[in-house]
Amino acid sequence: MTTSTDVVTNERVAVVAADVVVALHEVLERHQVSEEEWRAALGFLAEVGRHDEFVLLSDVTRTSVLVDAMSHAAQSEATASDVEGPLYREDPPWRERPVKIYDEYDGMGESDVLFVSGRVTSIDGGPLPDAVLDVWQTGPDGGYDLWDPRQPAYNFRGRFGVDDSGYYEFQTMVPKPYTVPTAGPVGRYLEAIGQHPWRPAHIHFKIDAGRHAGLVTQVFFVGDPYLDNDTIGAVKAALVRPLSRHEDGAQRGLDGPFHTCEFDVKLRATSQA
Ligand code: BEZ
Ligand code: FE
Repeated sequence: MTTSTDVVTNERVAVVAADVVVALHEVLERHQVSEEEWRAALGFLAEVGRHDEFVLLSDVTRTSVLVDAMSHAAQSEATASDVEGPLYREDPPWRERPVKIYDEYDGMGESDVLFVSGRVTSIDGGPLPDAVLDVWQTGPDGGYDLWDPRQPAYNFRGRFGVDDSGYYEFQTMVPKPYTVPTAGPVGRYLEAIGQHPWRPAHIHFKIDAGRHAGLVTQVFFVGDPYLDNDTIGAVKAALVRPLSRHEDGAQRGLDGPFHTCEFDVKLRATSQA
């Protein structure tokens, strides 16, 4: 996600910021906000900054989803984009085939193994053998490696390639719904407005392929209890996939049952293609 201010021109700042101020003044007047309340609001924003929670605030107010929708106009043929969220980590480990994105760790919760597979193609179906996928998700207890000292660094994260036909597969575990961080100022905000902090289970994808528009998206699973009320409002019907359960783990060298999920990715060619 580009956050650098130098991509925004002063002209654009002048136009948009002026409108933001007009909208803000209108709200303050309409609600007759007092000096104490305004000081509290400024203090809250300062705290959001100190806790590095501005992306999270943008997410839970569904502002990220709005900007994503405006930035990536739905193109029926290309795979839908979705918000990145604040839990992406740069430079995840490269995973060789057969790709497995996690290591078991002491106290790891119960969940089934999941194999996610699909093909990365252009919208006309042509394979993109140079594609690189970067995926990240929570472990079976609902936590990211960043929050969970039991997990090795970069657990449930990884970057890997596809074969000549654009095919990829990786082994992970079925993720579970989880709450966005609630210990900081954004958690207090959610409580104050009565918004729950839950997200449906999902896997994040960032996909790059030469001469095609990169894609950031998420995959969700049929039957998840939070599909209709994701706290960041990021679920798109086109990104919800069924999980298929297989009882005979031995065929995959496993002790127990496992799941599979198919997720094909279609990328739009850039104009230089
Ligand atoms: C996430 O999906 O990783 C996420 C998105 C928004 C806020 C917090 C976490
Ligand atoms: Fe997530």
